[in-house]
Amino acid sequence: MKGNEKIGITAEAVALMKAQVGDRFSKYFVTPRIVKLNSVVGRVFSRDLLSNVFSKRLSLAKDMHRAIKDFKPEQLVDLGAGVDTFGLEYALANPHYPVIEVDFPKMMDYKQRMLAMIKKQEGLGSVPNLHLVSADVVMDNLMQRLKHDLKRGKRTLVYSVGLNTYLNSGQYKSLLHNVNEILVQLGNNSAYLSHEPIKAQHENMTPGVSGKLLRSLVGILTGNRSFVHFNHESDLKSYFQKHGFGSVEILKRRKDNLIYLARV
Ligand SMILES: C[S@@+](CC[C@H](N)C(=O)[O-])C[C@H]1O[C@@H](n2cnc3c(N)ncnc32)[C@H](O)[C@@H]1O
Repeated sequence: MKGNEKIGITAEAVALMKAQVGDRFSKYFVTPRIVKLNSVVGRVFSRDLLSNVFSKRLSLAKDMHRAIKDFKPEQLVDLGAGVDTFGLEYALANPHYPVIEVDFPKMMDYKQRMLAMIKKQEGLGSVPNLHLVSADVVMDNLMQRLKHDLKRGKRTLVYSVGLNTYLNSGQYKSLLHNVNEILVQLGNNSAYLSHEPIKAQHENMTPGVSGKLLRSLVGILTGNRSFVHFNHESDLKSYFQKHGFGSVEILKRRKDNLIYLARV
């Protein structure tokens, strides 16, 4: 398994957090291994630290989902979708708009099987506008992989949640190159929505020795370091401009993350 493929564990952790707050579909993605891991972690780390981390992650997802709805996309592309169930909800609520989720093949095969089960259990019928695409969002030519499912001139939102910090600087650059190409090809109505931690604030997210220990544990479990790409908001804007984006609009300045919309 490649290092980045292990990030599936963090996707399951997000599903667990969402299931705990009653999200309709996330409960199906709570695996025995994440329940076990959660109970081990719960014995080592303080309840306060963990509930702080959980509530920040959940409120980030909520802010991102709010921003997606506000954009009112006619086409939606989720990069590194993991087991997030927002795409399913959006596809159900907007049956005429394609929703495309992209992740590694293993993850997408698993999600495909689970979706078949969810549809049956929940009596949803088919959801023909939800497409799962297996691809490496860094290494593959994304536009080639997505072109059959996307139409030019439609109001398109490409977005990622909880992906960018797992990419090193070279991978991050390749991701943005891929995103840029999609936006250029699809036309003016398209944008990239994402979020970035800013260095100093990120370090404060899980403070103290136990915070550092928790970050190390996540690093070991996922086989990845967590990368913070920018020191300041201005670095983010100039980086995007240097890599072919015409504008970056900051939608929300959270304590832990900047949520932004980039256009070419
Ligand atoms: C932390 S999870 C977040 C999942 C989801 N976006 C959410 O918010 O619940 C990160 C996801 O990115 C995927 N991922 C990481 N690197 C990737 C890559 N190079 N290509 C495709 N998917 C990738 C992982 O497999 C994982 O499902």
